[in-house]
Amino acid sequence: MMSSERDARVYKLYEQLREIEQRLIPTGLHVFGRAAELKEKTDLLRMVGSFDRPELGAQALPRLVAEGLQLVLDDQLFQDTAESETKGLIDDIVTESIKRLCEEGCEPAVNFLISRANVDRERARASFKILANISDQLDANRELESLMCALRGEYIQPGPGADIIQNPLVLPTGRNTHAVNPYSVPSRSAYQRAKQTTDALLHRYREEHGRYPRAMALVLWGLDNIKTQGEGVAQALWLLGVRPVRDALNRVTEIEVIALEELNRPRIDVVMTVSGIFRDLFTPTMALLDKAVRRVAELNEPLEMNGVRRNVLERISDGGSPFDDAATRVLSNAPGNYGTNVNFMVMQSDWEDAASLGDLFVTRKSFAYARDSQGRTVEGREARDLMDDALSRVEATYQNIDSFEVGITDVDHYFEYLGGVSQAVEVRSKSRPAIYLSDSLSPQTKIRTLEETVRLETRTKTLNPKWYEGMLRHGFRGVAEIENHVANTFGWSATADAVDPWIYTEISNTFLLNEEMLERLIELNSHSVQSLAKRLLEAHERAFWNPDEHVLEQLREVVDRVQERLGG
Ligand code: BEZ
Ligand code: MG
Repeated sequence: MMSSERDARVYKLYEQLREIEQRLIPTGLHVFGRAAELKEKTDLLRMVGSFDRPELGAQALPRLVAEGLQLVLDDQLFQDTAESETKGLIDDIVTESIKRLCEEGCEPAVNFLISRANVDRERARASFKILANISDQLDANRELESLMCALRGEYIQPGPGADIIQNPLVLPTGRNTHAVNPYSVPSRSAYQRAKQTTDALLHRYREEHGRYPRAMALVLWGLDNIKTQGEGVAQALWLLGVRPVRDALNRVTEIEVIALEELNRPRIDVVMTVSGIFRDLFTPTMALLDKAVRRVAELNEPLEMNGVRRNVLERISDGGSPFDDAATRVLSNAPGNYGTNVNFMVMQSDWEDAASLGDLFVTRKSFAYARDSQGRTVEGREARDLMDDALSRVEATYQNIDSFEVGITDVDHYFEYLGGVSQAVEVRSKSRPAIYLSDSLSPQTKIRTLEETVRLETRTKTLNPKWYEGMLRHGFRGVAEIENHVANTFGWSATADAVDPWIYTEISNTFLLNEEMLERLIELNSHSVQSLAKRLLEAHERAFWNPDEHVLEQLREVVDRVQERLGG
């Protein structure tokens, strides 16, 4: 190996380790009524402080430090290509300054930044004042008092529903969360952020496939679009190549087509599978997305530059569909229905093959929400045939993750949706789609494949002693959370075959084949231990993992041993 190649590999490894090390994870569960502990608080403040807040006249701390050290002249630093060592140096200074803020207060933190990085005093003060305020609010936990108010039928102050990093005004907690005005979605900043993300997404796809995807399937959730003020919605608009237009009342009710010369790439066809909650909360947004697709489909543009038009015309000529049907792209559950049920099938081991999970997804989600060319509203019309056809053209699936609090192995909803739709695409297009995720966790836009995300979540959560020891402090519930993570990881094998076998091996080694740990877990929650062992055995039965016979034997012994303890 050439030494330059070796250096490049070492460098890449260093970058990956740094990514794992820096990843923000929740340690332990939130205990109702209890304020964040110091470590958790400093991690949060570090994340909040890494974003510019122009509306509050404050700059991101990493930017201030970089400028103070005269390290950066443009936004390069915030891109992936930046020198890791430089990033590391800046991170270390920022982290230490936040620690001082929490322990000693604003001025000592400001002085530290001045001494270490020559940062302008007033600008440092502006940024730390905001963080100090957030820190105070994190300490003031009114959750129990508010609950008591609610039980007495008294008034509870309202507050916006958002992610703390996106919008620190969500603090203090313990207020009555109100959603967004759907007409405000997407916000201007969400639309800006979405451009970076969709550019990065298409860039990644092209790097791997040498061209743009023919069509993509997006998962849109309600709570996420509240938290991000419509980042997912904005991503769909960018892929189509349109921008939101506000009316005289500042409501987003229209869209405007971005000219191809300006867009500088083809328009991407998008199939939107939308949660029931999104459908209920964002009715006008559903109409906007549908309108955007129809407008783009009608543009008289070369087919290679307009994926929507190409696919719609093909459907009209091959499938004999009228335009109104062929341009249907906004799909959700039947009115009054929620969820895909894919998660329940997987959790209960109640499924034959992966294709049946994709079929179930389509059965649940194949209801069209649209407005036809006569202006009539379609609200949840059964459209299975149209959905099958639209998915058969999809080459990439994608979901935006809205916050660091809940990732793809924390809950069963990510695999039921993104896994479900990907599986449906695989069967209908006769090829496994590229599956991507991005997160709004950091100022840098990072697109990851599903496999990369599963690895990252496994390393930073499930197999990370900091994470599982944090869970185990909660006793019974903590073991249940560990077992949940394994089951959700298994969900990614079931729907998308996206889990490396080593992950199951390491899970077995860490939790069940280590006698001391096993004893601890059984003591705390033997039911979850048994489920965990059974899940690993199921992973073997379904050929997601092929461990040695003696490992299987040990797992079976765990099941029996717990059974005996449970008195069975
Ligand atoms: C939603 O906010 O749309 C959602 C929440 C939980 C699971 C699935 C979707
Ligand atoms: Mg979420």
